[in-house]
Amino acid sequence: MSDRVNFGSRLGAIFAAAGSAVGLGNVWRFPYEAGNHGGAAFILVYLGCVFIFGLPIMIAEFTIGRRSKACTGGAYEVLAPGTRWRWVGYLGVLTGFLILGYYSVVSGWTLEYIWQALSGGFSGKTSADYVTMFQDFSQDPFRPLLWLLAILLITHFVVVKGVKDGIEKSSKIMMPLLFVLILLLAVCSLTLPDAEKGLEFLLNPDFSKVTSDVFLGAMGQAFFSLSLGMGCLSTYASYFGKHTNLGQTAMSVGLIDTFVAVLSGLIIFPAAFSVGIQPDAGPSLIFITLPNVFQQAFGEVPVLSYVCSVAFYVLLALAAITSTISLQEVSTAFLHERFHFTRSRAAVLVTAGSLVVGIISSLALGVWSPFTIGGMNLFDALDFVTAKIMLPLGGMFAAVFVGWVLDKHVVKGEVTNYGLLKSPYYPVYVFILRFIAPIGIALIFVNELGWLG
Ligand code: PFF
Repeated sequence: MSDRVNFGSRLGAIFAAAGSAVGLGNVWRFPYEAGNHGGAAFILVYLGCVFIFGLPIMIAEFTIGRRSKACTGGAYEVLAPGTRWRWVGYLGVLTGFLILGYYSVVSGWTLEYIWQALSGGFSGKTSADYVTMFQDFSQDPFRPLLWLLAILLITHFVVVKGVKDGIEKSSKIMMPLLFVLILLLAVCSLTLPDAEKGLEFLLNPDFSKVTSDVFLGAMGQAFFSLSLGMGCLSTYASYFGKHTNLGQTAMSVGLIDTFVAVLSGLIIFPAAFSVGIQPDAGPSLIFITLPNVFQQAFGEVPVLSYVCSVAFYVLLALAAITSTISLQEVSTAFLHERFHFTRSRAAVLVTAGSLVVGIISSLALGVWSPFTIGGMNLFDALDFVTAKIMLPLGGMFAAVFVGWVLDKHVVKGEVTNYGLLKSPYYPVYVFILRFIAPIGIALIFVNELGWLG
């Protein structure tokens, strides 16, 4: 693959990978999970999951990508030619494609909410109005589809521009902007009256809430949040240069991802408690509770509630788009490398396919909600199958492949840049990949499917 492009700089590689990891999972799901499952105790368990399981598997995915110099759909074929391992690569491509479909729907909602925030759509509403507003919008058969198309087109144009001029450049703009917004919002939220009640909710450690269920939930969350299990990061690693330090890059991505997740909690809870609103679960937290919270919290200074609402939804959209770009890249690179389509033709096919999956997912929340699979509408069913089954499976296979199948010299060579770097933790890394990660993931898997009772 002589025409293969690399990221232009190590920082660019970190921003791109961190962009994939930082997404809706950080700003929306993490704070709620942490707040309701023991606060700081959950955060400690989550950190344990990130460091013990997440980072080694991330380094394993980096190894697969950089060594093969191929997208995830072709990497296993390069590293273990003629074996069934190639199906793990194909599984990753399918997973990414399906996630892109429904993830883009929610990403599209963030654009509607930026629009509402900008046009003053949140002002003068009662609590009940925010509920109706969200339900009317998300169940509408047309409006969410327009925003879905917008998200897919933005993603499309970045991916078509290529690895360096599209993905890397956009990440280098969007990620710093995201950091500035999140810091500003956290400062605003923390200076509100009674903010300490929210801080206490998020940070007070309550170890009695850390049951085995919570532990496994934290592991699943770490997995989704770090974009592991579908070869997204292995595809990005195929663009890493030979001097990129895989361990250090994984550590940076893990720290940035966790930092953004915790900071999101520091925005949401102090603001919610300051106006006496109990934070709610699911989509309602960011699309129903928060617009209300921002209006009330800064109600005496309308400019501030206006600016904070706009800033929050811009932050959410930036986080979402850097993730949709990485999801789109997995399938685009696969079609480009495997079937020799030009990048732009490959991207057109992926965008068109994702639009179809996205339309189905969006309508599943409204007019098609009567159609269910296993008691779930199609949107929830897609989320369940991909995030709860396909991602853990893909992660387990990556760990087993690097731990047991790949040549030991390659495994060590990739971590040490073929002798240029020291790696005192190498034996621990291999032990985790061989034993701890496969067993741990098998447990999440069994738990998610309810086999533990
Ligand atoms: N990590 C993203 C988030 O936390 O929202 C979601 C995601 C992106 C999952 C890319 C998987 C992936 F390959």
